[in-house]
Amino acid sequence: MADANHPFLAACHREKTPYTPVWLMRQAGRYMREYRDLRAKFSFLELCKRPDLAAEITATPVERLGVDAAILFADILLLLEPMGVGIEYTKEDGPVIHSKIVTRTDVEKLQEFEPEEALPFVMEAVRKSRAALNGKVPLIGFSGAPFTLASYLIEGGSSRDYLRTKTLIYSNPGAWRGLMERLSAAVGKYLNAQIAAGVEAVQLFDSWVGCLSPEDYQKYVLPYTRAAIAALTPGIPVIHFSTGTAGILKLVRQAGGDVIGLDWRVRLDEAWRQFDHEVAVQGNLDPAVLLASPKEIRNRVAEILERAGGRPGHIFNLGHGVLPETPVDHVIAMVEAVHELSSR
Ligand code: CP3
Repeated sequence: MADANHPFLAACHREKTPYTPVWLMRQAGRYMREYRDLRAKFSFLELCKRPDLAAEITATPVERLGVDAAILFADILLLLEPMGVGIEYTKEDGPVIHSKIVTRTDVEKLQEFEPEEALPFVMEAVRKSRAALNGKVPLIGFSGAPFTLASYLIEGGSSRDYLRTKTLIYSNPGAWRGLMERLSAAVGKYLNAQIAAGVEAVQLFDSWVGCLSPEDYQKYVLPYTRAAIAALTPGIPVIHFSTGTAGILKLVRQAGGDVIGLDWRVRLDEAWRQFDHEVAVQGNLDPAVLLASPKEIRNRVAEILERAGGRPGHIFNLGHGVLPETPVDHVIAMVEAVHELSSR
């Protein structure tokens, strides 16, 4: 067992910590030579389906960067396969989803699945990652949130304007509800299976939900995210992450989570005040800052720590994932600056 008093878990519970814990979204990825070397030999999906390699990729950033948490090496789109949807990762266009959702009939074709049977390699990667980490830092599991998963199913990949998704919501709300109910149930079950396998916190990625108006978020997303979070095994901290949601942060918080993820488009102190400091917050350095000089990185880290004001319940992170062009030395400089400048 990782120590329940580990700074990362303590901060999730808004308890005092000797320094501000830090980790990075997408800390296991292409900006690291170790990862690129493995990718030269295996496809991305092969790596996800090889628990020994996935565990190695999960643990490497902890050794290399000195971060306070590990995130499981996997992907938010893996759970679409057992629902009957083919996925492919292409070099140029990122993920491509076959059999897109257009009609109510498409929604009804989506299959239910038992995560331990359908995605055994994910659960085995959890167990192997826990063994590799050996109690050093907690392991975070994750899933896409219902909206972000629905957007991939409808758009067939990433999108700039999410027009197909919005069109389905507006023209066929019944199909949308059916889709979100299925995804919400699948996400809850999938995360609970990860928890049973050994993850010590979970993060829901609602990466693209910032494209919606407050009214649409409230009506077409919030109830389903809330249901997924409410279904989770009690006692395991939930991080609820989204981007581009400055105007709807209170609604995001209403959907649930012990920790709310903030991107760099908001001031951390102003956002935290909107929550009356009654939840923990995670963030929120602009990932692009890691391309600047270590001196500039340190200044920006100091600014965010100042906004957090030493209040318990801040987990330092980027506002979104590490960019592939980021120098590893700059990430190490960031982690060191967080630890040093926040030591109390
Ligand atoms: O954070 C980590 O290091 C753990 C692993 C992780 C990956 N994807 C590995 C990955 C996590 C937590 C994710 C989450 C994920 N996947 C999200 C939410 C986070 C976010 O960035 O908003 C999304 C939207 C996806 C879907 C996805 N997977 C995209 C859009 C892409 C292609 C673009 C990209 O960033 O590479 C992927 C592929 C992917 N997922 C890679 C990795 C390491 C790169 C694959 C490769 O090696 O070619």
